[in-house]
Amino acid sequence: MLASFSFLVLLACHFHGLSHAAVPAAAAGGDSQFIYNGFAGAGLDLDGMAVVEPDGKLMLTNVTSQLKGHAFHPAALRFHGEAPASARNSTARSFSTTFVFAIAAEYVTVSGNGLAFFVAPTKNLTAASPSQFLGLFNSENNGNASNHVFAVELDTILNPEFRDINSNHVGVDVNGLMSVAAEPAGYFADDTGVFKNLSLYSGDAMQVWVDYDGRAAVVNVTLAPAEAPKPKKPLISVSVDLSAVVNGTAYVGLSSSTGPFRTRHYVLGWSFALDSAAPMLDYAKLPKMPRAVTKRRSRAIDVALPVAMPLLALAAVACVSLLAWRRFRYAELREDWEVEFGPHRFSYKDLFHATDGFDGKHLLGAGGFGRVYKGVLPESKTEVAVKVVSHDARQGMKQFVAEVVSIGRLRHRNVVQLLGYCRRRGELLLVYDYMPNGSLDRWLYGYGNGAPPLSWEQRLRAVRGVASGLLYLHEDWEQVVVHRDVKANNVLLDGEMNARLGDFGLARLYERGAGPQTTHVVGTMGYLAPELARTRRVTPAVDVFAFGAFVLEVACGRRPIERGVGDSDGDGRFVLVDWVLELWHMGALAEAADPRLRGDYPAEEAELVLKLGLLCSHPVPGERPSMRQVVQYLDGDAPLPEPPRSYQSFTALAMMQNDGFDSYAASYPSSSATVTSVGAVSSVHSGGT
Ligand SMILES: *[C@@H]1O[C@H](CO)[C@@H](O)[C@H](O)[C@H]1NC(C)=O
Ligand SMILES: *[C@@H]1O[C@H](CO)[C@@H](O)[C@H](O)[C@H]1NC(C)=O
Ligand SMILES: *[C@@H]1O[C@H](CO)[C@@H](O)[C@H](O)[C@H]1NC(C)=O
Ligand SMILES: *[C@@H]1O[C@H](CO)[C@@H](O)[C@H](O)[C@H]1NC(C)=O
Ligand SMILES: *[C@@H]1O[C@H](CO)[C@@H](O)[C@H](O)[C@H]1NC(C)=O
Ligand SMILES: *[C@@H]1O[C@H](CO)[C@@H](O)[C@H](O)[C@H]1NC(C)=O
Ligand SMILES: *[C@@H]1O[C@H](CO)[C@@H](O)[C@H](O)[C@H]1NC(C)=O
Repeated sequence: MLASFSFLVLLACHFHGLSHAAVPAAAAGGDSQFIYNGFAGAGLDLDGMAVVEPDGKLMLTNVTSQLKGHAFHPAALRFHGEAPASARNSTARSFSTTFVFAIAAEYVTVSGNGLAFFVAPTKNLTAASPSQFLGLFNSENNGNASNHVFAVELDTILNPEFRDINSNHVGVDVNGLMSVAAEPAGYFADDTGVFKNLSLYSGDAMQVWVDYDGRAAVVNVTLAPAEAPKPKKPLISVSVDLSAVVNGTAYVGLSSSTGPFRTRHYVLGWSFALDSAAPMLDYAKLPKMPRAVTKRRSRAIDVALPVAMPLLALAAVACVSLLAWRRFRYAELREDWEVEFGPHRFSYKDLFHATDGFDGKHLLGAGGFGRVYKGVLPESKTEVAVKVVSHDARQGMKQFVAEVVSIGRLRHRNVVQLLGYCRRRGELLLVYDYMPNGSLDRWLYGYGNGAPPLSWEQRLRAVRGVASGLLYLHEDWEQVVVHRDVKANNVLLDGEMNARLGDFGLARLYERGAGPQTTHVVGTMGYLAPELARTRRVTPAVDVFAFGAFVLEVACGRRPIERGVGDSDGDGRFVLVDWVLELWHMGALAEAADPRLRGDYPAEEAELVLKLGLLCSHPVPGERPSMRQVVQYLDGDAPLPEPPRSYQSFTALAMMQNDGFDSYAASYPSSSATVTSVGAVSSVHSGGT
């Protein structure tokens, strides 16, 4: 019966003289069956990317990614009995279909996303999504019984969200992509019963049979290489009642979609029948797949590539993103004038890696002019401290960098070695020798580390070290360098507890941030020499004043200015130098020494240091000793003069008030904060350099 039917169809083909042409089966069953041996002139309803090529191949998708294509048999088919709706036999009719397909992936053996035979209530699938939805469903309606869609998928991508078993499987789908049954692509050999794998996306033509037994409510799906006889044992045999799925009259079609991988999905021939087996295709009439596409690949590649390709694709994406990311992340500012400073220039990338991307766990400190990170240079394994200074002004940057580089040539055991710099947009990075013992004030006030307070010996050594470093800057180097921000926080301790001065020149950088007619006074309250408010002239005496404050701080263990303490003045402000001066006037200077020392120090040394602090803190710059004298006093090479009797308590403060210092002295309560004050002063230049 079947054979004679096929014969009839073939006869019809020849009768119409349509070689390779579609012949909607007009015989036996009317609109209940059709056969297409190739699709030229078949009159399928196509949408999306689907086209019929001149040789009759139906190409459901071309190589454009993220698109879909459908081909429908134009006429609707009656899947339920022909009785009037009221008396309709609700059991869906049996049907059978077969088609020959080929999936040609452009990238050897990775494919996307597969194709499907389907039964749907409508030919309008514009709402369906491509890619893993195979052009049949979308993320909203997937799995919804109102879809009334039955499909058999040939799926070449593993989509975990649909519980796909692998990237090469056949599945039976009802209203969604979560298959009711799925098996790896292959077939059972008739003679031995042994399962043979097939690769759906090999580019080779293969044939699929879908048979639905309406009475038994069983779907069988069978797969085989093209032109091989239909295997007796189906690949999938699953109980599915389609009575409620296919909705009365429905359309049958073929659907395909592409994802990220460039893949062509072809169908070479297709037949369908209700209530009987699908007509046999005439292989001789089917269009052929191009040779290049069906070319076999080596087994090794077949095995390795499905694994390697997604990895390669991922790697490529990763590489591109990485390059873009690096461009952005390691972007630096470099200008022509910097060429001469080349050796002092660090690459941002190195500094980035040295500090693990400026990770918070490497943060040594923050405040003042920026954040400081500990780092280990990738190549030399040198430990460094990287100071990141926010700085937007390009003006003056060249001169500053020139200074940085010249400061980098400073060599002294009481000076933190500056190794170099790096510039980025809005950021300046300064690279220093790493000082393992951190800043002196950490030790002085013992916060954080619970270390015992510094001994007198250590304090005296620090004072001597800083004096020696300043002397070098002021007098012993090729040019006069004024540090401008001497304070306990900027005195760092190396591995041998040698005090070293750090943070040169940043004050100057900040001064230049303003316009040419104005300048900032930059420094730290309590360390700022009073004459700065009046003259803004930066002289070595400015450093001496700050050194005096530092010396008193180290000897007394108190900040130069404290707020809200018991022995404060009327403004609630404790001024260390005034307090020490008062004690000196009262002949009780010894009481000023840090009580945490418990008197464990030579009294005459403490007196010398305290008096030195007072001398250096004198409000009149001319009354302060030079650093060379300071070193001589400390070394006992010259006798320390008594502070002048005229040196009155509150003098400094009064001068400050007269000079307009008070307004901002009051507005910066924390003595450790770096303060900046702007005033209109013409032509100010460092008296130092
Ligand atoms: C693929 O098909 C789409 C839709 O027909 C078309 O826009 C696109 O140009 C085609 N791409 C190629 C490479 O043929
Ligand atoms: C429905 O049709 C099947 C044959 O397709 C038949 O066996 C069955 O008896 C029918 N049921 C009713 C209720 O008519
Ligand atoms: C197809 O369906 C979409 C929504 O799913 C609708 O917007 C469109 O008008 C429909 N097209 C036709 C021809 O019915
Ligand atoms: C299924 O689709 C119908 C019609 O589109 C909708 O009303 C219903 O909420 C959907 N059900 C689920 C569970 O999404
Ligand atoms: C078929 O493929 C599966 C996995 O894809 C593999 O485990 C199995 O060994 C293969 N069988 C043959 C006969 O190649
Ligand atoms: C489906 O397969 C089973 C098991 O091989 C077989 O018994 C049954 O007849 C098949 N049904 C159809 C409609 O091919
Ligand atoms: C399914 O069939 C019923 C009854 O024939 C009809 O009311 C309904 O609209 C159909 N659903 C779809 C999605 O075609």
